[in-house]
Amino acid sequence: MSQQHAVNGVLPKGKVLTLETMNPNVKKVEYAVRGPIVQRAVQLEKELREGAKKPFTEVIRANIGDAHAMGQKPITFLRQVLALCAYPDLLEDNKFPEDAKQRARRILAACGGQSIGAYSASPGIECIRQDVSRYIEKRDGGIPSNPDNIYLSTGASDAIVTILKLLICGEGRGRTGVMISIPQYPLYSAALADLGAVQINYYLDEDKCWSLDVNELKRAINEARQHCNPRVLCIINPGNPTGQVQSRECIEQVIRFAKEENLFLMADEVYQDNVYADGCKFHSFKKVLFEMGPEYSSTVELASFHSTSKCYMGECGFRGGYMEVINMDPDVKTQLTKLVSVRLCPPVPGQALLDLVVNPPQPDEPSYNTFIKERTAVLAALAEKARMTEEMFNTIPGFTCNPVQGAMYTFPRISLPAKAIDKAKVKGKVPDMYYCMRLLEEEGICLVPGSGFGQRDGTYHFRMTILPPAEKLKIVLDKIKNFHIRFTEEFS
Ligand SMILES: Cc1ncc(COP(=O)(O)O)c(C=O)c1O
Repeated sequence: MSQQHAVNGVLPKGKVLTLETMNPNVKKVEYAVRGPIVQRAVQLEKELREGAKKPFTEVIRANIGDAHAMGQKPITFLRQVLALCAYPDLLEDNKFPEDAKQRARRILAACGGQSIGAYSASPGIECIRQDVSRYIEKRDGGIPSNPDNIYLSTGASDAIVTILKLLICGEGRGRTGVMISIPQYPLYSAALADLGAVQINYYLDEDKCWSLDVNELKRAINEARQHCNPRVLCIINPGNPTGQVQSRECIEQVIRFAKEENLFLMADEVYQDNVYADGCKFHSFKKVLFEMGPEYSSTVELASFHSTSKCYMGECGFRGGYMEVINMDPDVKTQLTKLVSVRLCPPVPGQALLDLVVNPPQPDEPSYNTFIKERTAVLAALAEKARMTEEMFNTIPGFTCNPVQGAMYTFPRISLPAKAIDKAKVKGKVPDMYYCMRLLEEEGICLVPGSGFGQRDGTYHFRMTILPPAEKLKIVLDKIKNFHIRFTEEFS
């Protein structure tokens, strides 16, 4: 029953909430990274535990950018300070270095009742927002950052959705259009569906290492103007799922485009430390914007996002993050502060962790050497796996793989035989979903089909993380190669 109409004055007692009566926007939300393939992977793991015989002995999950789940060890200093914050009696324990204790004391002093179990101010703990500002200033070669422009968040996801909420409004042709890259990280399409925005796709150029071409932005916005009101441009740099790192020149062009078209810029920079390829460097949108001079730096509205979930930390579960807003109308900032207040505050342990990321051990402190050693080892291993993955994929007939310049993923293009595409259609599946499902069933490898991120019609891809430990990654790559050759033979 879709509506509860009174019959003879009596209301029928069906469920209040049904598929027909629920919020239709929520039904439109899709999130491939945790979609049907992952559900099947969970089921297969259960079957294996119960003794079922499969062609593999374990399911390897290379579907999600969750470093610790793939065996990455936490950075000692981060966990020491968090342990001290969570259980301050440990401050008496001489196993902990003095600098970790100092950080913990400073964080606890800033918490209500000196406990990380207390709520904090809604935009985050004041001294941590100051530390974030100092980190940004240092990162950007001294360009000033104001702590009043910093909002701590529950991972970057929360801050991204909050900014989208402020921006999305209007009806019909006046509805807010939001430009997102294709392929994209599906948080964006999901949030746009949820908030009822118009998604404007701009395609990254696979033939040019997934680079962004401003002419493509122009094409996309001109088409979209026929049916919505484009107001926002989202950029992910380094890219997920495509692993490209934007050049400084490209960022300048994007900023110029945003100014010309009067767009609010959202720069998702959660992979800012994950840059591996020679000749590539991370340039923050904030820095480039300010280096372009006051014509830009005093007008273009920008929100940039960072997180404790990626880089060398991989601390996804703590849900730490921040955003910096630039040139935001002061009245809107008041509204933003109100909006984040409704949710009380981001998790305080996540805020504490973020503080350590933006304010790591210094050369004269006891934890410095170990910290640098651990951080360097994580980033060097990722760089090696990025190289190894690209190299191996490009040896497989029918695979084309761009260099993994940054982030944590590879997004190779796979050619599928026409008969396999037909078979998928008969089974009611998108071809790359069919391919990934078969790979899971036959080899126990869990990937995400390219269709979950968007891709040009007639092309097929999958996303694989480079997070499994190197020995395991080698096995994964070999298994994918064998599967692909077998699959192609079966359908030719
Ligand atoms: C590009 C991008 N933005 C945002 C996020 C969300 O991260 P968080 O854990 O900080 O919410 C992710 C997570 O994978 C991501 O890849």
